Amino acid sequence: MFESLKKIQAATESRRITDLFDDDAERAERYCAGTGDMRLDYSRTNIDDATRLALIDLCDTADVAARREAMFTGQAINETEGRAVLHTALRNLDGGSVLVDGADVMPGILDTLARMRRFADRVRSGGLTGQGGAITDVVNIGIGGSDLGPAMAVKALAPYHDGPRCHFVSNVDGADIADCLAGLDPQRTLLIVASKTFTTIETMTNARTARAWLSEGGGDAARQIVALSTAAELTAGFGIADDHVFGFEDWVGGRYSLWGPIGLSLMIAIGPKAFDAFLRGGQAMDLHFRAAPWSENLPVLLALTGIWHHQVCGYGTRAVLPYDQRLGLLPGYLQQLEMESNGKSVAMDGTTLEEVSGPVVWGAPGTNGQHAFYQLIHQGTDIVPCEFMIAATGHEPELAHHHRLLVANCLAQGQALMRGQSLERARARAGEKGFSGDELERQARHRVFVGNRPSVTLAYPRMTPFVLGQIVALYEHRVFVEGVILGINSFDQWGVELGKELATSLGPVVDGDQDCAGQDGSTAALVRFLRRNGL
Ligand code: F6P
Repeated sequence: MFESLKKIQAATESRRITDLFDDDAERAERYCAGTGDMRLDYSRTNIDDATRLALIDLCDTADVAARREAMFTGQAINETEGRAVLHTALRNLDGGSVLVDGADVMPGILDTLARMRRFADRVRSGGLTGQGGAITDVVNIGIGGSDLGPAMAVKALAPYHDGPRCHFVSNVDGADIADCLAGLDPQRTLLIVASKTFTTIETMTNARTARAWLSEGGGDAARQIVALSTAAELTAGFGIADDHVFGFEDWVGGRYSLWGPIGLSLMIAIGPKAFDAFLRGGQAMDLHFRAAPWSENLPVLLALTGIWHHQVCGYGTRAVLPYDQRLGLLPGYLQQLEMESNGKSVAMDGTTLEEVSGPVVWGAPGTNGQHAFYQLIHQGTDIVPCEFMIAATGHEPELAHHHRLLVANCLAQGQALMRGQSLERARARAGEKGFSGDELERQARHRVFVGNRPSVTLAYPRMTPFVLGQIVALYEHRVFVEGVILGINSFDQWGVELGKELATSLGPVVDGDQDCAGQDGSTAALVRFLRRNGL
């Protein structure tokens, strides 16, 4: 599928990105795109005009436009589960009707959103109280998409957080819930059980533990527990009254669900108005994605850059490096979004994927990462394409000099990756340190940066709810475009099922109710070791 691109890559591999800048004074402007006041710079890559054209061709070959319309208009593009994919409808605040099987889903979405707003306002104003008074703490109990999105966004938007404190429990490891609940008042804590299916073992185990903690501590479960789920019968079975259930439909995938009820903790934290701004940011990116030509379309350009680096150049991983401490959970969020969506080796039609699937995505905020793993990014033998994110201003005007340092570091890293440091320069550096002769030569070699390492940079004025909405939707659509080009169904996740099944069947073995017969040798030996040590 990528034959012509691979030929281009082979022919241009040894070229320096810096030469591309030397040959084209307009490169920075010609290899960037924007929407609103957001700018995506992909000039620090080895992509030239011919490469870009060949990449853009992929969109037409794969008919991204038709798939995009199919998604936005509610067709069942999640073919293995026979479902529409309509997280975009959750932020379609004033965009008209969206039909699924002939029925408009917008009235239901807007009605649930209005209920969420009323509920959030009551919690924030003290209108809804716990047994001991106004709610001081909210605990969201969920995992995967029912945790990563709201946890990431609440942290990202801390400057807008004026509601009760928010906590997130996800791991079935009892340490997680024990640490979270320690110090909270069971009479003034609101528990949000967030689970699309309401069957996920981690979430239901944590929910039962939290419910017992609340009741034993004198809390009022009827008032202080809320469910966010598609499974109305199961939430009722858990004892949660209908007016404390915020439902959504199966056409909202778990990792795409932050925009609806799963975002309730975020709405309680920042308030309905700021939550609306977040939705509007997502909607703005939708409008851009649907209307902008491929060469100016941010999600498309990000996807094509990703395909160039992973499927064509063969770089195995991609680092997401937000220069924003509050975006500390964004890499983890994007890991689920990208790896659960595009980590598949079978194409939509059931055949084996012709190309490699989506890359490993990882990262951490700058500047911390610079003092941890950037060594490998600069001098390791693997090339890691980097995605930097930076705001023009922070939220601490009294600390503007910190932000200027942050910006300088972010820009410097992209520059260092691209330019590198030649042997001559490294020799001069080693000379300055007083080395000479063979030792200078040896020292110099350690100081060489090969450079020519690609990066893209996303820049925006400030991290606001609107901008966060834009960024999340940007990455959602990027994953979608990559999936369409690769022929993948980005909306199922069969790869997580086997582990869940085996964990269930190992339960009686771990509990000691069943012996290890039938287990593989390694599992049996590990169970014996753990038993000898107190399991
Ligand atoms: O890990 C698989 C998965 O299904 C994710 O896709 C999902 O976000 C997570 O589990 C949680 O599922 P639920 O919201 O149904 O508890």
